[in-house]
Amino acid sequence: MAFNPDSKQPIGIFDSGIGGLTVASAIHQLLPEETIIYFGDTAHLPYGEKSHDAIRYYSLRICRFLLENKCKAIVVACNSASTAAYEVLLEFFKDKAVFVNVVDPLVESCCQLSYTKVGLIATHATVQSKVYERQFKKIKENIQVHALATPLLAPMIEEGFVHNNISKSVIETYLSDPLLKDIEVLLLACTHYPLIKQEINQFFNSAIPILDSTDVTARALQSELKKHHLLNNSKSGEDHFYVSDYSENFAKATKLFYPDNIHLERMNIWE
Ligand code: DGL
Repeated sequence: MAFNPDSKQPIGIFDSGIGGLTVASAIHQLLPEETIIYFGDTAHLPYGEKSHDAIRYYSLRICRFLLENKCKAIVVACNSASTAAYEVLLEFFKDKAVFVNVVDPLVESCCQLSYTKVGLIATHATVQSKVYERQFKKIKENIQVHALATPLLAPMIEEGFVHNNISKSVIETYLSDPLLKDIEVLLLACTHYPLIKQEINQFFNSAIPILDSTDVTARALQSELKKHHLLNNSKSGEDHFYVSDYSENFAKATKLFYPDNIHLERMNIWE
């Protein structure tokens, strides 16, 4: 199939769960005329603990679903999938939609600042991939990345544990790791973490910048759509927010991630 989409077609956004809604929300703010089809693979959460092969398999299937739903662009709103599966997704589908991940915009925005000692917190899958280190090296040779796996954070946030004693103690324990001593900037390399940005900032007494991938990814998508003449100028479709496994907990936690009242629909693409 030749790549010949229409600007009226929707934007597909996916994550392992509802964390990617932080990116969807930034996209919605910046590009309110775009229709969104969100897919949270809550049946397989957390991706951060899965093998790269499993993450690739899930991501390929989800992209197929989004393409069947006529998405003109796909945003991989999950660092674990962006690091483990992005190249495979491009191999399979790059001539079918515009693709944006959450790693490159974050790396590029960090490189615009003059820091050399960069701290990063993320899932095991993201840390093990070393994709951030490779992408930084392509732009700036002298950047040292201090990457710490913080696997409890995404499930904790997904459960709605933010701004309470549990989150405070988990965050403090992770961020006190000697690996993060003396860092000049911290990257939140997981799309769930913007929800605890304030608590992280408090831990560092606002002494260092904390960067996340929400706004920068929305802007990267905007410029890709512009480049391909695919920006929509008047909203024509309905947004959909699908999850592969539905629970009341997810529905409740969604309110933390997305400003508007959204309705989660169960869509099991695995049956
Ligand atoms: N939101 C995913 C990410 O950005 C992590 C959550 C998970 O482990 O599934 O990596």
